[in-house]
Amino acid sequence: MNKGNLSTESYKGVRDFYPEDMAVQRYIFDTWAKTAESFGYERYDASILEPSDLYRSKGAVNEEMVNEQTYTFTDRGEREVTLRPEMTPTVARMVAGKRRELKFPLRWYSIPNLFRYERPQRGRLREHWQLNCDMFGADDFTADVELIALTHQLFLDFGATPDMFEIRVNDRQEMSALYNSLGIKDQSVITAITRLNDRKNKITGAEYETALEEIIGDTKLTKAVITIVEDTTGTNQVIDGLRELGIYNVRLDRTIARGFDYYTGTVFEVFDTSPENNRSMCGGGRYNNLTAMFSDDTISGIGFGMGDVIMRDFLETHKLLPTHITETAPCVVIIPTDQKLNLEAQKVAHAIRIRGISTTTDIGTKKIGKKIADAVDRGARYTIVVGSDELQSGAFTLKNLAQTTEITDSLENLLTHLITNN
Ligand code: HAM
Repeated sequence: MNKGNLSTESYKGVRDFYPEDMAVQRYIFDTWAKTAESFGYERYDASILEPSDLYRSKGAVNEEMVNEQTYTFTDRGEREVTLRPEMTPTVARMVAGKRRELKFPLRWYSIPNLFRYERPQRGRLREHWQLNCDMFGADDFTADVELIALTHQLFLDFGATPDMFEIRVNDRQEMSALYNSLGIKDQSVITAITRLNDRKNKITGAEYETALEEIIGDTKLTKAVITIVEDTTGTNQVIDGLRELGIYNVRLDRTIARGFDYYTGTVFEVFDTSPENNRSMCGGGRYNNLTAMFSDDTISGIGFGMGDVIMRDFLETHKLLPTHITETAPCVVIIPTDQKLNLEAQKVAHAIRIRGISTTTDIGTKKIGKKIADAVDRGARYTIVVGSDELQSGAFTLKNLAQTTEITDSLENLLTHLITNN
């Protein structure tokens, strides 16, 4: 191996999380978890490794993802393994596996990391974390209303206002009925139109029309489909239900198709209204047959995924990220005056820490004034200097960094002070 010239870059399309990024990540995850739990969703998780067959079953995911975007390898036992590209097949597998014991309707959430071999670009990476909220065993349309209301609440809980985002809703069953009314009944043609609609906002109007005509093979019918797809005036019971809950930044959008074949009814996506972030931030829908690949008794599901990359972009664009996230800062920093007293400093830190107050030591070689300044930078609240005088007299000085006040007392009394003031 060459010495010392290995790149410090991370693998293409994935991120390192330095502590300041981790603090943001944690803030996002904590907010997600709190909102999901406020709707009664329970947390679950699974391994990132899945047998590749899970993604090959008919109707499981979209072909593009299986063929071009999964990280798949053969393990030492000749099994084909895939790093999960999404959570929905996994949760369907888990629910189907315990379908006799679980109480339906059930509401579950998770924050998995997912891997997709995509071209890295703004908002899209090869590893991302995704909040997944899903409800199983509820066929009523109010379940669809609830899941969309939950996405709405997630944005509000980050401090967003409804004008900052828009929810666009469609329904695959309604789309099929509309195509059928035009005489388009062949399911493979409908699937092809749905996939094309999924790409509609990434291509020009002319390209869309040409591709559509190729699928349909008839100019008049093509025009009729375009009229349907471009109609934004309609509504449906899910949208009406949301309005009754006071959610108005929602509209029907017949171009919302979603890339996965498993959706069977309502489909929806959430868009940032700021043009800087024109990607979909959140997407989901109803899938009534996904558990059918595991057993004959199918359980309906509805849910959505919301990504961390685009969430952070959204919060930054709208200036919604708290400026100072210092929740991981220790409460107290113990500062030895000399390297020889490092162990004594560790002992003092230990005595405070076991009483439930986060404490660290600064065992670096800088001067005391610099160490205190570093403690302030880190967001610590107190320092205690440990020198030979302090150790001999048993009197230590607790410095309150925000108020720049000091108390000198025995360690035990300082501890009592810390506990009552913390
Ligand atoms: P999806 O539309 O593929 O849906 O992803 C949902 C969200 O995850 C996207 O709107 C985006 O925020 C984020 N996302 C997706 N791919 C990437 C990427 N490469 N980099 C960064 N963020 C990304 C699903 O995955 C469905 N399984 C969601 C679902 C749950 N449907 C029902 N239940």
